[in-house]
Amino acid sequence: MDAFKGLPEARVISDPSDLAPFLQDESHLRGILPLAVVKPHGPAALRELVRRAKAEGFGLVPRGAGTGKAGGCLPTERTVVVDFSEWPGEIQVSPQDLCLRAPASAPLRDVKAAAEARGLFYPPDPNSWESCALGGTLATNAGGPNACKYGMTRHWVLAVDALLEDGELHTFGISSVKANAGPSLGQLLIGSEGLFGFITGATLRLTPLPREYTTLLLPVKRWEDLLELPGRLCGAGYLPSAFEFFDPAVLAELRAHGPEEARRLPGEALAILEFDDRGSTSDAFLEGLLDLLGPVADQLEVASDARQRQGIWAVRRMTSVFLKERHPRKVSEDIVVPRSRLREFFAGVGRLDIPAVTYGHLGDGNLHVNLLAAGETDPALLDRQLMDLFSLAISLGGTLSGEHGIGLAKRDAFLALSDPGHIRTLRALKQALDPQGIFNPGKMV
Ligand code: LAC
Ligand code: ZN
Repeated sequence: MDAFKGLPEARVISDPSDLAPFLQDESHLRGILPLAVVKPHGPAALRELVRRAKAEGFGLVPRGAGTGKAGGCLPTERTVVVDFSEWPGEIQVSPQDLCLRAPASAPLRDVKAAAEARGLFYPPDPNSWESCALGGTLATNAGGPNACKYGMTRHWVLAVDALLEDGELHTFGISSVKANAGPSLGQLLIGSEGLFGFITGATLRLTPLPREYTTLLLPVKRWEDLLELPGRLCGAGYLPSAFEFFDPAVLAELRAHGPEEARRLPGEALAILEFDDRGSTSDAFLEGLLDLLGPVADQLEVASDARQRQGIWAVRRMTSVFLKERHPRKVSEDIVVPRSRLREFFAGVGRLDIPAVTYGHLGDGNLHVNLLAAGETDPALLDRQLMDLFSLAISLGGTLSGEHGIGLAKRDAFLALSDPGHIRTLRALKQALDPQGIFNPGKMV
């Protein structure tokens, strides 16, 4: 649309042949052709975009690095994609305040590295951490393995800079963990998937960098025994910084077709456990831990150096890409059940005869349930299988998304299965904050 050519402080892409990359993210969905893609370089561009969106009746869809898993950044009908990859700003670390300021465009890997260079730690580590943008992790409240101990992105955000429907940028929050002057509007924006406004930057909380790690590869003799372990460990006072797993089917796929390092993976099922507490490499700590793990373990391995630790993580980090390459039309979910209900959940999946394989974040009950044959399954049957899966998770006190969010992928299920009061409240907030519905239309609610 040539109408976007005169936009101040922005780069505009409107040639349809250049728009293809913006029709996808890391979900199984595709968007429709947007009116244009705008890469804003300053507040004047956002102000003008909001003005034109209201006047001309089109929507604005935010985009970070396009690594989301729920279709949240895909263009819907009559929308302009607002791509924040060229939004200006520097990463600034303040060790005194244990915080860091960064623009939405900052790669998460640079944010983590900037903290680390000062001996500090920003824990959120979604699987896409080497390629995603900070803004996307804020909009989706990204998780990752470290959430098991450290919580999700929202637990590390002190202040949020955001574009609201008045076309202006506002900052919500301060550079301190203590800020209690009314409800937190910044937190309302985290995980809102661009529904209420667009996040342009944030002040993030940091903590001292862990100095030692114990990383264990835990093959189990009997897969069911693994399911009791997260609860047993936490009950005994051990909180892993990560507790990941592969079920027997995923492990078999990795062993048969995965990269070299995956071919030697042992066990019927396999867990990766990591502890980063001070003292976690001491003999006393390990002895207590091995007492708990011993009865379920089959040749437990402790990583003895950083290289071995990295090797273990490399296999875990490539699992999603590996499965996608082998089963391009698969559907990957990320339900949650409380860790005390894991065994009941898998019994339920068996009873419902849902043809799924699972890996993911066992320590916090966030499971990547994959329907590998989704592409070849009758769509009505697939819908039923997914609804059964979500309903099972919810009936056990869980939810249909632990970290990937709702976006387009889970919108129907979210609307159908959520408490009506929850949806009503979200819609009331949407109406109050975006009465003309310009922000990310057609998503979530
Ligand atoms: C993972 C992504 C899919 O944990 O969240 O591999
Ligand atoms: Zn994950």
